[in-house]
Amino acid sequence: MLKEYPSNGVDVSSITIKPTSRVRGEICVPGDKSISHRSIMLGAIANGVTTVQGFLRGEDNMATMKAFRAMGVTIDDDGQIITIHGKGLRGLSEPSDVIDCGNSGTTIRLITGLLAGQSFFSVVTGDQYLRKRPMKRVVEPLSLMGATISGRAKGSLAPLAISGGALKGIRYQSPVSSAQIKSALMLAGLYAEGETTVLEPSLSRDHSERMFRLFGASVDSFDGGVTVRGGSELQAREVVVPGDISSAAFFIVAALITPGAELLIRNVGVNPTRTGVIDILTAMGGSIELLDQREVSGEAVADLLVRSSHLKGIEIAGSVVPRAIDEFPAICVAAACAEGTTTLRDARELRVKETDRIAAMAVNLRRLGVQVEECEDGMDIEGVERLGGGMVESFGDHRIAMSFSIAALVSDGGITIDDIDCVATSFPTFYPLLETVAEAVR
Ligand code: S3P
Repeated sequence: MLKEYPSNGVDVSSITIKPTSRVRGEICVPGDKSISHRSIMLGAIANGVTTVQGFLRGEDNMATMKAFRAMGVTIDDDGQIITIHGKGLRGLSEPSDVIDCGNSGTTIRLITGLLAGQSFFSVVTGDQYLRKRPMKRVVEPLSLMGATISGRAKGSLAPLAISGGALKGIRYQSPVSSAQIKSALMLAGLYAEGETTVLEPSLSRDHSERMFRLFGASVDSFDGGVTVRGGSELQAREVVVPGDISSAAFFIVAALITPGAELLIRNVGVNPTRTGVIDILTAMGGSIELLDQREVSGEAVADLLVRSSHLKGIEIAGSVVPRAIDEFPAICVAAACAEGTTTLRDARELRVKETDRIAAMAVNLRRLGVQVEECEDGMDIEGVERLGGGMVESFGDHRIAMSFSIAALVSDGGITIDDIDCVATSFPTFYPLLETVAEAVR
């Protein structure tokens, strides 16, 4: 679909989005990326046949699917339901080639944890962006568990070569709140002798804890961390994946910043470790109602009713940051449209995402006439009455591309976003869906 959009004549696509006079309607966003990854991973090592409904068929999740197929797992997709023929805890086989995780940090970090406990050799790598992202954060604690992993830059960059083997449980205090670190160690912990405990400064998304429990693993969550006991077999389940709040975030912001907007976003995952974006935007004065709250496959779900709102700048810091970590590009656009200054701190992790998101947002917002002050762990954004138009870059980062596509809806004359192919990593249907709620996209 994205290929239909105009090309800039080089090797990547760009899109120009014009201002809109309305954002209205009712939409569903695709399945949650984090939960989709985990459903494949746990389904693959469970006993029996797992089915997954609502699976996100973005490039990141397809990389995970391909990795497990390469390890001998049969995974069928009938276009609706994904069916995973689980191999049991010890049933994966040695892949005959390098596993390419594409752009997906979750794929590479989580499967590195899982591969560390296998009785075979494997190599994991990724695209030019992933190969720049820090891997020491998982390699180091996995090495403490007894794993043998080597890689570029003394084991801190992919490709990583993993000689799987016997692991022992550890108690690990993670220096950062990261669900990828926590989940890598939890997966390794399934294969380790004894208990593996991961402590983190404040709670990161807990989809692994919930799905481990759903599949019958022995997991204890407590204030500040989680413990997994090794050796327990997992049982196949029927998983239903809710819509991704990270994808919904772009539409939430679109509705908040566009005059006269009203948008109903159905079936959104509202796990409390992910709803920082709702808390932040509500604190800025945004009108976001959670309707019909329910629970599906151990995860909280709701419909979100969002109305155009007068936003005000606020201070964002502390434990809300990991709860909104992927939504800051969209939140920065809201801040640029708000009255007054928004300050963001404690968000150093944004510098090691798909791109340095602090630098990328600052550069692009400045191009639209917004005053932005960067600091090591965040930034200050001065809201403007009307965003300027112009040209911005995605830096190969899907969330940067989508954030400025939303900003364009209220810009002066429109915004051209360069290099939008990356949107397919998490939200292949983003532009067609945007067209259904906002007129004059393009
Ligand atoms: C994810 C965890 C987060 C998030 C990423 C998905 C996950 O990364 O940014 O998009 O599924 O575990 P960190 O663990 O690096 O914060």
